[in-house]
Amino acid sequence: MKFNTKTIHGGQHNIDPAYGSVMPPIYQTTTYSQTTPGGHKGFEYSRSANPTRSALENALASIENGKYGLAFGSGLAAIDAVMKLFKPGDEIISTNDLYGGSYRLFTKIFEGLGLKFHFVGMQDASNIEAFINEKTKLIWVETPTNPMMNIIDIVACSKLAKKHKLLLAVDNTFATPYLQQPLDLGADIVMHSATKYLGGHSDVVLGSLVVKNKDLADRLYFVQNASGAICGPQDSFLVLRGIKTLHIRMQRHCENTEKVAKFLRTHPKVDKVYWPGFEDHPNHDIAKAQMKGFGGMISFTTSEKTLDSAVKLLEKLKVFTLAESLGGVESLAGHPASMTHASIPKEDREKTGIVDSLIRLSVGIEDDEDLIEDIKQALG
Ligand SMILES: Cc1ncc(COP(=O)(O)O)c(C=O)c1O
Repeated sequence: MKFNTKTIHGGQHNIDPAYGSVMPPIYQTTTYSQTTPGGHKGFEYSRSANPTRSALENALASIENGKYGLAFGSGLAAIDAVMKLFKPGDEIISTNDLYGGSYRLFTKIFEGLGLKFHFVGMQDASNIEAFINEKTKLIWVETPTNPMMNIIDIVACSKLAKKHKLLLAVDNTFATPYLQQPLDLGADIVMHSATKYLGGHSDVVLGSLVVKNKDLADRLYFVQNASGAICGPQDSFLVLRGIKTLHIRMQRHCENTEKVAKFLRTHPKVDKVYWPGFEDHPNHDIAKAQMKGFGGMISFTTSEKTLDSAVKLLEKLKVFTLAESLGGVESLAGHPASMTHASIPKEDREKTGIVDSLIRLSVGIEDDEDLIEDIKQALG
């Protein structure tokens, strides 16, 4: 089955044996009747498994070319489950430019529980090996990175992980499986904030993991069930519905983003534009090799290079909504330094380029002329 067909049918056979409904029913139930102790139809209690969640988990596994999907209450709950595979003293090498909430989870929760994180500029994958030692267990990659749009070579990371017998996990939130399939490039775990493009309509918070290996799936399922950070059936249904249009939404996101990025680059009130589709983006060739398109996200700085210039611009936008999050059909604009990445200390933030004049755009699927006109008027 090819990708566009998988978004609609992947993992969805025999979805409703009772009535043949085309979409999986929302099984809003906590528990399932048993004929005798243990005599059930595969479902006992909805933390452990729920048929609507299972339908979503199968769809997720299918679109990521994996075997096992696990859905959680949020993207961070999914990352939390991965980190619970490890013990105090274990070390993890993470991308240094990553979603602020992931950084907060690593440094404020898991460092306190004894894990050690090394935050490394992975745009050059050869920087990673120096941080590997006998305690290292995982390489955590986010690509493209949030918000600096750095690209990390997944194949190179996977070679390193295999050489040193480490796990490789990729946060695929920005790219989505339509553009990039990390498991095919050698990753062991692919993670999503399905809150973003997979859900696609800014109406559900949900996270996911997909793996190929049965043992790893069993260990993650143990955490999912034991810690219990699962998503509900209604939210599972919404993400399933979102996935069915992922491919067409992503096409339009990519087309609009290219036009907006090129427009921004020519504007005198804009300084730097970060978008991996530019031929002079430092890892453009890697992006071209591992992605089918360059995605729906852009970051840029104002030529005035001040907080005030960024805030004024954000306040003037009319079609773009000033809001956290990304990946919905509507265009959003954000200020990473004070919003999504405020949990990273200013000094560390600025080292990776998250300066006060940086603005992040999630380019939606509206008419591109309206989006460009909106930015033009806001820039003055
Ligand atoms: C790249 C990335 N990973 C993970 C997350 C966390 O996901 P959630 O907000 O669903 O917990 C986000 C949220 O913005 C994100 O952008």
